[in-house]
Order: sequence, then C-alpha cells, then structure tokens
Amino acid sequence: MSTHESAKVRKMRMPDLEQVLNIEREVFFSSWSRAFFQDEIDSVSSIQLVVEVHGDIAGYICAKIFSDEVHITNIAVVPGMRRQKLGSMLLSRCIDKGLELGAKWFILEVRESNTVAKEFYRRFGFRELGIRIGYYEDTGESAVLMAWGRTDECKSDRTIPVFEEPNTKDCS
Ligand SMILES: CC(C)(COP(=O)(O)OP(=O)(O)OC[C@H]1O[C@@H](n2cnc3c(N)ncnc32)[C@H](O)[C@@H]1OP(=O)(O)O)[C@@H](O)C(=O)NCCC(=O)NCCS
Repeated sequence: MSTHESAKVRKMRMPDLEQVLNIEREVFFSSWSRAFFQDEIDSVSSIQLVVEVHGDIAGYICAKIFSDEVHITNIAVVPGMRRQKLGSMLLSRCIDKGLELGAKWFILEVRESNTVAKEFYRRFGFRELGIRIGYYEDTGESAVLMAWGRTDECKSDRTIPVFEEPNTKDCS
C-alpha cells in the first residue's frame, strides 16, 4: 500500500500539537508558536487539518475563512515524506471543506524564492495574481499572491484528483 493510500486526513486536535510543532520548527525559519496553533484550533473560522500515516502526523494545513474567501495560512509535510501526495491530500480536503462552507476563492501568499511550493500550488490550479513587496517581516522577502477560485475572475480548475481517504469520518 502506498503512503497516500495508508494516510488519513482529519481535524487537528490539541494532543497533536507536540508533533505539529516539531514539524513546524523543522520546516520553517519563522515558525508559528503553540499559542497560535491553539487559537486556530479553537476558532470556528479556521480549517485545521492533519494527515496521519500509521499513527504519526506527517503534515498539516491551516486556513482562515473570511466570508466567501478561504486564506490558506500554513501547510507543511515532514521532509522525509514529501512527494507522496500528502500535501495534495491536505490541500484537496481543505478546498473541499471551504467549498462546503460556501467559499468561492482560495488565496495564499508564498515566498518568491519557494519554487517548490509555487509549483505545488500551480499544479493544483492556483494562479499568480501579483506580488506583495517586502511581505515577510523576518527577511523582507516579497510574497507571490496566488489564488484558485470558481468565479469568472479566476476560472482555473483543480488539475489533480481529489484523493479519497480510507476514513474521512474524523474530519469535520
Ligand atoms: C509544499 C509541500 C507542502 C508539498 O507537499 P508534498 O506532499 O511533497 O506534495 P505532493 O506530493 O502532494 O506534490 C504534488 C505536486 O506538487 C509539485 N511538487 C511537489 N514537490 C515538488 C518539488 N520538490 N519539485 C517540483 N514540484 C513539486 C509536483 O507537481 C507534485 O506532483 P508530482 O509529484 O506528481 O510531480 C511540501 O513541499 C512542504 O512541506 N514544503 C515546505 C513547507 C512549505 O514551503 N509550505 C508552503 C508555504 S506557502
């Protein structure tokens, strides 16, 4: 069975935070704090999902809902498990959840230098809308603003399949 076949996407819970924070600190130069993740888990206007492989958390995604727009704020997969569609499972489920809640737009910022993430989002149908100059406070790097939507302004379609997880009941 492939990694993504044995993977399960579900809602993030407080007991997940230790593993989530370990990934966050390993992956990002400026990492989110425990308090930040806790607030997001508690918030009704957030989508917080993890992907679990054989009982261990292999990645997570965080997003904020603003009316008909979902802002994807964080996504990471552990370095040793990348390129096995776990990121795609997370993003796909997050989009499905947003659509269920009435969202029409999905937007995000990504560091200009993050070619892997930009390719990942492009592959998913996200398109580059513009640049936010000096967006990242830590390094002063600019952000590329990317969006995917179901409106006339952004007609792109999701270009890779939605993965069916064996157990989707945990994901609210
Ligand atoms: C971006 C990230 C979440 C992708 O997760 P992943 O599980 O490796 O991605 P997937 O396996 O679902 O990849 C889907 C597609 O994205 C593209 N992609 C992913 N990694 C890529 C890479 N290293 N180089 C080129 N394209 C890549 C490919 O098109 C891939 O499809 P393919 O494998 O069939 O060619 C992961 O690389 C990561 O955690 N990066 C560090 C954190 C980060 O930069 N987050 C984004 C902040 S905005």
